[in-house]
Amino acid sequence: MKDMYILGIESSCDETSVSIVKNGTEEIATIISSQIDVHKQYGGVVPEIASRHHVKNITIVLEECLEKANMTMDQIDAIAITYGPGLIGSLLIGLEAAKTLAFIYNKPLIPVHHIAGHIYANSLVKPLTFPLLAVVVSGGHTELVLMKDHYQFEKIGGTLDDAIGECYDKVARVIGLEYPGGPKIDKLAQEGNDTYKLPIPLQDDSYNFSFSGLKSAVINLSHNEEQRGEEIRKADLATSFQKVAVESITSKVRKAIQELGIKNVIVAGGVAANNGLRTAMQSLTEELGVELSIPPMKYCTDNGTMIAAAGYFAYLNGRVSDLNLNSKSQDTLK
Ligand code: KG4
Ligand code: ZN
Repeated sequence: MKDMYILGIESSCDETSVSIVKNGTEEIATIISSQIDVHKQYGGVVPEIASRHHVKNITIVLEECLEKANMTMDQIDAIAITYGPGLIGSLLIGLEAAKTLAFIYNKPLIPVHHIAGHIYANSLVKPLTFPLLAVVVSGGHTELVLMKDHYQFEKIGGTLDDAIGECYDKVARVIGLEYPGGPKIDKLAQEGNDTYKLPIPLQDDSYNFSFSGLKSAVINLSHNEEQRGEEIRKADLATSFQKVAVESITSKVRKAIQELGIKNVIVAGGVAANNGLRTAMQSLTEELGVELSIPPMKYCTDNGTMIAAAGYFAYLNGRVSDLNLNSKSQDTLK
């Protein structure tokens, strides 16, 4: 088969990103324009502001990416776009750009689910082998996805309430750390000791997760210390919280590997950048003798590279759309 160059566009939250990937595995060029500094002052992403920035950035990011790759649109074989899930106003900006390019240059338009993108960030590292367990951990998702082949997704479990990244960000806010707090808690967790007693959520027979109880426990603990006039030991709290959050993921991953004959575990999404989780997954997979793949940090947070990579395998699976494609703020991975 002839080489295939896919241009991927991602705009589901606060990153505007365009990337060109060859054959779903080789990054040619990527541009990411992050809005973190804009949203930081509000303590989280403000949807209306995010869409306005996407409008301002999208053509600049696209031009910069083509320039960096030293390519023209004529050399691109297809356009992959995150159609959802995400912030609807943000998604629509990327979608309109993708549809316009597909229309003008007469290229196939490939709809990509944002989580499929996070999963396929791993194909930029090494080939996926099956049966595979994708541990999807991000600001909006906490899911275990079983894949028996390329682009076959079977969700076997997920969070019953908050996503793990959301929980990290809320806990961070409680102890006075800036948005996004996940990486800051991770850093603090390396410096403290596990001295606070926190409940390990949902130790049951399912593949599901729950993080709202853990979040509430941290909030209550912090209020109680405050009322007693005592200062919370932030590093210790971060260490104790991270230990429980990571353990609640790895215990379910262990169960899935043992019960489902998994050969390859991949970790996907923003929280895949977490040092505690990376170390725990490393030792778990070594102990059970399965292959582990975790993308480097640059592929963990939102980017167009993962969308272009997923787009290639989606295309091979026949997932091409016409120009009636619409954005969806929510959609199950299938
Ligand atoms: O995948 P992502 O970029 O956006 C979504 O699709 O949600 O994930 C962002 C989330 C945020 O909640 C952020 O705090 C969290 O990933 N995150 C981390 C770390 N790096 C990013 N959480 C814990 N430890 C980290 N090192
Ligand atoms: Zn994401």
